[in-house]
Amino acid sequence: MKYILTNLVSLAALSGVQGHAVMQSPVPRGTGPKQEELCGKLVTAVLERDLAGPIENAMNAVDSSYKCNAYLCRGYQYEDNVDNVHAVKAGDVLTFHIDLVAGHHPGYANVSVVDLASNTVIGELVSWDNWPDSTSGPPRNDTDFKVTIPNTLSTACDEGGKCAIQWYWWSISNSQTYESCLDFYVE
Ligand SMILES: *[C@@H]1O[C@H](CO)[C@@H](O)[C@H](O)[C@H]1NC(C)=O
Ligand SMILES: *[C@@H]1O[C@H](CO)[C@@H](O)[C@H](O)[C@H]1NC(C)=O
Repeated sequence: MKYILTNLVSLAALSGVQGHAVMQSPVPRGTGPKQEELCGKLVTAVLERDLAGPIENAMNAVDSSYKCNAYLCRGYQYEDNVDNVHAVKAGDVLTFHIDLVAGHHPGYANVSVVDLASNTVIGELVSWDNWPDSTSGPPRNDTDFKVTIPNTLSTACDEGGKCAIQWYWWSISNSQTYESCLDFYVE
């Protein structure tokens, strides 16, 4: 326990030099008992203490109870989020807001549709070669953007839990990954 606490304290000290961002709207996937079961209590705790922080912080806390893939939706599980699944139709436009807490580390970002069972991208919705892009706007279109549901997902994403819209930011200079997921199905 002492080791764990020391680790958490040193992570807190580091956080000032890290980028920080998380999807704020729509409300993304969050944690719950299934994530604790699959990712382990410590990894889950590190992810929870800094919702906008990089996934790599939690990788430093991996122990024998880690059996999830934190790089898929930040380890958040569908079972913990069944009350937050968006029913959409092809052509629907969804509006997103990313809370950019700290972003002095440029990188790439994108928003994709991910097949959750295979962890493969089955739709690319929008991408940025340079994110965050403080020259965009106003209104900024890096942290505030819209995506259109493609008409190619009606079979692959016909039920909750099959697909998620994943926002992904890779910060180059400090090699850090930020993700948020939104569950949806095509009606
Ligand atoms: C999204 O960006 C990440 C980081 O740059 C990259 O690894 C991934 O391949 C990108 N996904 C798509 C669908 O372009
Ligand atoms: C953001 O706006 C700029 C300037 O209007 C434009 O060049 C760029 O393609 C836009 N990016 C996205 C992802 O909408």
